[in-house]
Amino acid sequence: MPGSSATRRALVTNGHEVHVVPTADSLRFVGTTTWEAVSRNPVTTSVHDDVAQVRHVALGTSADLVVIAPATANTLAKMAAGIADDLLGVTLLATTAPVVVAPAMHTAMWEHAATQANIEVLRSRGVHVVGPADGPLTGGDSGPGRMVEPDEILAAALEAASSGAARAARPTDLAGRRVAVSTGGTREPIDPVRYLGNRSSGRQGAALAVAAADRGAEVVLVAAHVDDGVLDAATRHPRITVVRVSTTAELADAMTDAAASADVIAMVAAVADFRVAEVSHDKLRKEDGVPLLDLVPNPDVLAGLVAGRRPGQTVVGFAAETADSDEELLERGRRKRARKGVDLLIVNRVSWDAGFETPDNRVLILDAEDTVVADAEGTKREVADAVWDAVAVSR
Ligand code: CTP
Repeated sequence: MPGSSATRRALVTNGHEVHVVPTADSLRFVGTTTWEAVSRNPVTTSVHDDVAQVRHVALGTSADLVVIAPATANTLAKMAAGIADDLLGVTLLATTAPVVVAPAMHTAMWEHAATQANIEVLRSRGVHVVGPADGPLTGGDSGPGRMVEPDEILAAALEAASSGAARAARPTDLAGRRVAVSTGGTREPIDPVRYLGNRSSGRQGAALAVAAADRGAEVVLVAAHVDDGVLDAATRHPRITVVRVSTTAELADAMTDAAASADVIAMVAAVADFRVAEVSHDKLRKEDGVPLLDLVPNPDVLAGLVAGRRPGQTVVGFAAETADSDEELLERGRRKRARKGVDLLIVNRVSWDAGFETPDNRVLILDAEDTVVADAEGTKREVADAVWDAVAVSR
């Protein structure tokens, strides 16, 4: 934990054993002696100190929680890239504990596409991001970028630690299970440069795959048009095989293959329901007038998987619905669950600005008896864990 001494003092006062891992730059603000006095433990920035004790790895592996406060744009970028050129970087790669970051930087740096992309990668790996707050910044400017107050960091840290402890105590409940997950959105070509598609980012499916693999499953993740950054954690995971597809037909083939040996199937992908009857060989040109697209329905992949389900196989469907109220959402969900014949339906309310392309999600999970077994809200990783909890109960 680099940085904020108030947060650190609060943790020590709360009876936690705290090790401070300052970055070299942070020591220009507060020196080693102060950190040692506040944390009551030795402080170093070097991976070469205490080599006999393998300190550079031990700090990460023994931690129940890692808090980075303040987290600079530079530290966030290094974390996202997995750079381990100092003790903090090494600690972060070695740890499996929950990680909480409290960003602090100028608004322009916070809003920069690079920082936002890094935050996105970190969130997809389950890092808890607290803040930044909006307010006056060093240098007289004002805007989002202030580190949140120590109390708020402490609360986020303790919550992350308790959910981390719960996770550590629970999972491997999918060990030995084979899971097939589809994610992203299929695209149907119109001509060589155009397609019919949708706004699905693939984040929820990617989070579902990573959560299942973390809980011990062997996972095939069939991804339709998902950005590399979103698939980062899945691609690196030793128990996940990523299969990239484009059209609904390709997704259907890949999922049917994976389903043949899967214990659980989760169809998270937003499947294009229609394709053009005849894809134009040449680019459609304006001079030929406004094209009339003749659409034909795509097969319902989920229905095919349900029809071909192996004995004991659990099938999970997703439904992104627009609804004016929870009651309407539930009603639509119930009708869809019955129509699809799935064991669990994850119902997700979407609107023009909710559900897609966002880091957080809220879902209702319906079981085969149409009971709402969970109303889960949080990061896509938290929602993913709620889904696997429901799968575990439904078996
Ligand atoms: N699905 C599928 N194949 C399709 C359409 C949907 O496998 N051609 C799957 C999705 O992956 C999801 C579930 O079916 O798990 C529900 O998708 P949704 O688009 O909500 O359902 P539709 O059957 O397309 O119904 P709607 O008319 O509401 O779009």
